[in-house]
Amino acid sequence: MQNSKVSDVSQVSPKRLFPAKRRTFAIISHPDAGKTTLTEKLLLYGGAIQMAGQVKARGDRRRTRSDWLEIERSRGISVSSSVMTFEHNGVIFNLLDTPGHADFSEDTYRTLSAVDAAVMVIDAAKGIESQTRKLFEVCRLRDIPIITFINKVDREGIDPLEMLDEIAAGLALDLSVLTWPIGLGTDFRGCCDIYGSRLLLPKETRIDPFGRVKKFNNLDDLLLNSEIEERIVEPAVEGLLLCLEALPKFHHQAFLEGHLSPVIFGSALKEFGVAELLDCLTRWAPDPLPRKAKERSVDPHEKRVTGFVFKVQANMDPNHRDRVAFVRLCSGRFVRGMKLLNVRDRRSLTVSAPIFFFAQQRETLEEAFAGDIVGIPNHGTLRVGDTLTEGEILTFEGIPDFAPEVLRRIGLGDATRTKQLNRGLNDMAEEGVIQIFRPIFGTWPILGAVGTLQLDVLVSRLNQEYGVPIRLDPAPYETARWIVSTNPQRLREFCESYRSSIAEDKNGGLVFLAKNAWTLNRATDEWPDIEFLRVRERS
Ligand code: G4P
Repeated sequence: MQNSKVSDVSQVSPKRLFPAKRRTFAIISHPDAGKTTLTEKLLLYGGAIQMAGQVKARGDRRRTRSDWLEIERSRGISVSSSVMTFEHNGVIFNLLDTPGHADFSEDTYRTLSAVDAAVMVIDAAKGIESQTRKLFEVCRLRDIPIITFINKVDREGIDPLEMLDEIAAGLALDLSVLTWPIGLGTDFRGCCDIYGSRLLLPKETRIDPFGRVKKFNNLDDLLLNSEIEERIVEPAVEGLLLCLEALPKFHHQAFLEGHLSPVIFGSALKEFGVAELLDCLTRWAPDPLPRKAKERSVDPHEKRVTGFVFKVQANMDPNHRDRVAFVRLCSGRFVRGMKLLNVRDRRSLTVSAPIFFFAQQRETLEEAFAGDIVGIPNHGTLRVGDTLTEGEILTFEGIPDFAPEVLRRIGLGDATRTKQLNRGLNDMAEEGVIQIFRPIFGTWPILGAVGTLQLDVLVSRLNQEYGVPIRLDPAPYETARWIVSTNPQRLREFCESYRSSIAEDKNGGLVFLAKNAWTLNRATDEWPDIEFLRVRERS
């Protein structure tokens, strides 16, 4: 990543952006479907990088520059989300990267709270996979408009019609195709851009930048004059005709409401469908949308700055021990040096060195608008879920905490490193890598994670970044639930009778640590006025 060059950042200086359109979106997919490759190609088209391969660290072609953690490199997975901003045809794209691995879904869910649209990448040979489905559900809950990119059509895959059937039925989603593959696998000859009446053909030479394009008048013309073998083009056009008959036409409002997804068949690797995806985002994806706060809805055109922290990342640059809060701006014009109120603790902070993310480079940000992501370096004052305003008391909604599925106790090898350990744990809890539960009675915290991979990240980072080698031991609990009640007296009684199983999370929220599912069920049955929450919205 250090070796990567990017084009002149001043080309996209945020000063020039306003009143440019903004598209703030994420790519969701199952691991290996091609998200990294597609990200790279989008950056390439957007001019944020100049050559394919720059996004990937040298000697490790699988990873984008966003993957700076050692563990990501060694495991070949993308752990933490990051932001990439680029400009294309006068539109500013803020691409929020999301980890594909299931264990990191919590981070992904939070990132999805900061976007206005999503691109769902599906492997043409595999169809809908578990992680795609989960992430899709989150998008649906939030009515996020989704563009479907069916990737790897240059490989043998499921028949396109079958694939569309599977997605439409599996996700209960209307689909409308924008591009169609001509042949699959070794027979793949290109894609048909249906509404643009263009045949997209492979590059003729390696230096040919983006492939060739041939116009056609209608599908008969495509059949007769495409110069593609009959045995390939005929069944492809037949399939397309069937598909056009069976599927609804693209309907913008239905897309914005999250009911209909435009489909692009393409190949990120061979650069098919990438320009069409950018075009689709530009034309159809929404401008920054109004955001719901507890108190009211905030319009992006309001003059005063509002925003919320959806992610905190410590040690992004191992050379400078730093900690950056990623803030999604919801309204107003943000300028460097501005004073903002952190509504959670009513403290104000002067944002003197905000960061703008250009691909994976960072630059000092001078000005930003609704839809943009601003990085605010801080020493722990900002937490995930915090709302920032110019003074108004507002709380943005939609940042969830999930009850952990794995609980562990810490075994510290070197007792002289306790201070560093606590700092590391707090940092990583702020980032959302793990959750810390401090038992009301007892000294050592219990660590919670949504998946075991998160714990591997914790152990590796504590060692590398804080110099604290630790061991994780099984905890005497299997599950955790936040406990709340409208009856404070009953809540106190409950805590009293389960004294040794009550802990506090880092916000002071009460948590019931249950030995097993049976204990949890019994407590739930016996204490009907207590709510045992699996998901908790931050406030
Ligand atoms: P991910 O971020 O979703 O996990 O997927 P990634 O882009 O890393 O892609 C996973 C594998 O699929 C990579 O191959 C990548 O080259 C390949 N791939 C991505 N898009 C396409 C496509 O359109 N067509 C074909 N044929 N392959 C594609 P790999 O062998 O695992 O890694 P690499 O050594 O090629 O980087």
